[in-house]
Amino acid sequence: MHIAAIRMPLPTCAVREVGHYLRGVCTTHRASYPKSLRVLGIESSCDDTAAAVVASDGQILGECSHHQYAVHEEHGGIVPGLAANEHLKNMPLVLHGALKAAGMRMDELDAVAVTRGPGLPSSLSVCVAAGKALAAAHSLPLVGVHHMEAHALMARMGNEQSVRFPYLCLLISGGHTMSLVVHDVNEYTLIGTTRDDSVGEAFDKVARELQIPWIVAQEGGGPGPALERIACRGDPSRFRMPMPMNKHDSGSSPDFSFSGIKAHIKRLREIGAFDPLCQRDQADIAAAFQLTTTQHLCKKTALALKHAKIALGAEAACLVASGGVASNQTVRAGLQRLAEKHNVPLVCPPPRLCTDNGVMIAWAGIERLRRGLLDPYTIDFIQRWPLDQLKHMGYERRSSSF
Ligand code: KG4
Ligand code: ZN
Repeated sequence: MHIAAIRMPLPTCAVREVGHYLRGVCTTHRASYPKSLRVLGIESSCDDTAAAVVASDGQILGECSHHQYAVHEEHGGIVPGLAANEHLKNMPLVLHGALKAAGMRMDELDAVAVTRGPGLPSSLSVCVAAGKALAAAHSLPLVGVHHMEAHALMARMGNEQSVRFPYLCLLISGGHTMSLVVHDVNEYTLIGTTRDDSVGEAFDKVARELQIPWIVAQEGGGPGPALERIACRGDPSRFRMPMPMNKHDSGSSPDFSFSGIKAHIKRLREIGAFDPLCQRDQADIAAAFQLTTTQHLCKKTALALKHAKIALGAEAACLVASGGVASNQTVRAGLQRLAEKHNVPLVCPPPRLCTDNGVMIAWAGIERLRRGLLDPYTIDFIQRWPLDQLKHMGYERRSSSF
C-alpha cells in the first residue's frame, strides 16, 4: 500500500496527527517519539474477545477479555457461528471494560490496532468492523495486525533492549506451529512449519480423546490447560509414544508433525490399552503426550537455530517462544534447557500473554505505528495470511516528512 492510498481515507486532521506522532521516525528503525503512544488493541480472530490499551513504554493501561469455553465445550471444538455470535454480544462490553480499566476515553488514544487475520472469517469480521468503525469515528490512525506477528512481537513489549532483532521465534498456537527468523517488524523468514496438525490442535484433540473436561481453573480453561493440569499427576514413562519425524529422511528437517502421535493415542484407546475414564490412565497418557511433544518441539527448534544461523550468517540474538502452547510449563522448561545448551537467551511472554489477548494486538500496533505501517479505514479481514508474505504487501515505511 502506498502512502497516497493510506492518506486518502484519513481525514486531514488525522493525517496531521499521525504525522505528528511519527515525527522522528528514521529509516534505520531507531525511532524517537515526541510523546508516548497509547493504542487500543482489539482481538476476536477465534474464540476470545479481547481489548486492551497499551502505552509505548510497555505499560498495560487497561484490558478486558471474554472467553467462550463454556459455549464450545459441549461441541468438542470451536463452532464458528457460535463464536461469532458471542463476539457480537461481548465486543462492546470488552471495549468498554478496557477503556474503563485504563480510565481513558477514545479521544485520548493515539491509534486503534485490530487483528486483521488469519483466523475464522465470521470471528475476524467482528473485530475488523469494530476497529475500523472506532478509528474512523474518532479520526484515529488504524493498524491492521497479523495475529501471528502480534504473538511474535509480544516478548518485546517493554523489553526491546533485550529482545533485539534478528531473533528466532517459535510460534506454537492452535492454528500454527512454526519457527521463523524475525528480522524486524513486518519481516519474517519461515524456517520450519507443521506438515499436518498444529501443536495446539494436537493438545486439543488428545484432551478430547482422553475426555478431559475443559474448565479446570477459575482463571483459565480450554483443552490445552486442562491436559497440562492432568499431565502433572501422570507418569510419562508408562506409555511409549512414537517420536515424530525421527527417520533418516525427515530427521534433519526443521518441520514439525503431530498427527502420528495423535493417531497413536487414538489407536491405543481403540484397542483398549487405556481407559479414558480411569484417572491414572488419563494422567499417564497426558504426561507421555506432553513430554514427547515437548521433546519434538525442542529437537526441531535446535535445528531451526542452526538454519537461522546459516540464514543470518550469525547467531540469532535470542530465542522467543509464544502462542498459547508456550504457556505450558513443561514446554517452557524443555525450551529453557535447549536455550541453555545452545547458549542463547530464551524469552517467553508471561503465560497469560502467550494465549490470545488484546495486549499483544495493541503492542504490535505500536511497533507498526512506529514504522509508519498504517492502514486505510477500508481494510477487510484476511482469512489465510502467511506471515512471511507480510513484507510483500506493499506497505511503505514513512519518513519523518510524512
Ligand atoms: O495462541 P492461542 O491462544 O490461539 C491461537 O492463535 O490459536 O493458542 C490456543 C491453543 C489451543 O490449542 C490451546 O489448547 C493451547 O493453545 N494452549 C495450551 C495451553 N494453553 C493454551 N496447550 C498446552 N498447554 C497449555 N497450558
Ligand atoms: Zn493466537
